[in-house]
Amino acid sequence: MELATHGAMPDGGVTRLALSEADIDARRLIARWAESLQAEVLADDAGNCFIRYAGRDPELPPVMAGSHIDTVPGGGKFDGAYGVVAALEVIEAMQQAGVRPKRSVEAVIWTNEEGARFSPGQMGAAAFAGTRSVDEILCVKDRDGVRVRDVLPRMLAALPKARMRSLGVPITAFFEAHIEQGPELEAHATQIGVVTGIQGRRSFIVTVLGEAAHGGTARQSERKDALLGAVRIIGALEASVLENESDARLTIGTFSLEPNAPLVVPGCVRFSVDLRHPENATMKRLGDLVPAICARHRGACAVEVVENANAPCAYFGEPMMQFIEAAVDRLQLSRRRIFSLAGHDSREIVKIAPTGMIFVPCKRGLSHSALEEAEPHDLAAGARVLAEVVIAACDA
Ligand code: GLV
Ligand code: MN
Ligand code: MN
Repeated sequence: MELATHGAMPDGGVTRLALSEADIDARRLIARWAESLQAEVLADDAGNCFIRYAGRDPELPPVMAGSHIDTVPGGGKFDGAYGVVAALEVIEAMQQAGVRPKRSVEAVIWTNEEGARFSPGQMGAAAFAGTRSVDEILCVKDRDGVRVRDVLPRMLAALPKARMRSLGVPITAFFEAHIEQGPELEAHATQIGVVTGIQGRRSFIVTVLGEAAHGGTARQSERKDALLGAVRIIGALEASVLENESDARLTIGTFSLEPNAPLVVPGCVRFSVDLRHPENATMKRLGDLVPAICARHRGACAVEVVENANAPCAYFGEPMMQFIEAAVDRLQLSRRRIFSLAGHDSREIVKIAPTGMIFVPCKRGLSHSALEEAEPHDLAAGARVLAEVVIAACDA
């Protein structure tokens, strides 16, 4: 709740965009918490932060747990933040119980998971996993033309005691606790979701280029109206992508219009397309339709389609799921396996280390919303499972 004061909105939601002042203040707060835990703070060139509780053998690769603290605009208090706070809680509980494990434990904050300001997301985790280069992510711009490289130094300057460390150090395992962001656990009255994998995502930026003209004088038949072109394209995308594909998800989440004046025929429209599907082959087929549909329905306008993310489904594997299930059973909590329809940093980290995710229920499955809510006893249960798997992995 204290973390949620950074970026708090009057309706109870949180707007804490990646590398915004609210994000930077929230990291400052976490660094203060780290100080009270006498844990070292580290950071890397992608702005990922690590709160490290050194183990008995500090040379061994650490066990990491965490998530992200950036939010979408008007997001909730729990998406991401819960996984970071739960990881800090694990360190604090170990210390209070006098437990110093063999391997070090690091609570991690991955930079820009959401991709709401700097698209696409899972940016820090992708840089850590080596799937995106630091040079590339530093050049990513927000809507106002501000680059990651313009704001990242401000974030690092807010953590003067952080020791810089190279990206992608070896890790023993990574665990991410997260609210489910869907309705299954609540519907089945189950405390813990053992996550089997994460569905794939492709995302595109579509630019429709028409011709700005006078709204009173330009002949209707001669107009190149970028807005009407975009509307036709979006209608066609909805019809073609969702046809017979009940598992597909299509979101046009951003949309901008130029010059955006009542008396001017729109000359340029830009919108995003977020496409998801739980099977890679279908995901590929649907994603490949996007440029073709845009070209077919552009009318008199020109259209440009740039694919800015293409992440296949990730799978965590049987040994990891059984490792988490054994921990849930030791704590005598109820569990079920669940496939994540939302994206997470774990989709990147699983490429370089054994990775597992622990879901807890959230009210009505609502997320990316001010109405996001989770019960304290469910959050506590998830944190206990996280502690159990972290300790087991530390001493393995
Ligand atoms: C992030 O929230 C995602 O679903 O990709
Ligand atoms: Mn999240
Ligand atoms: Mn999210």
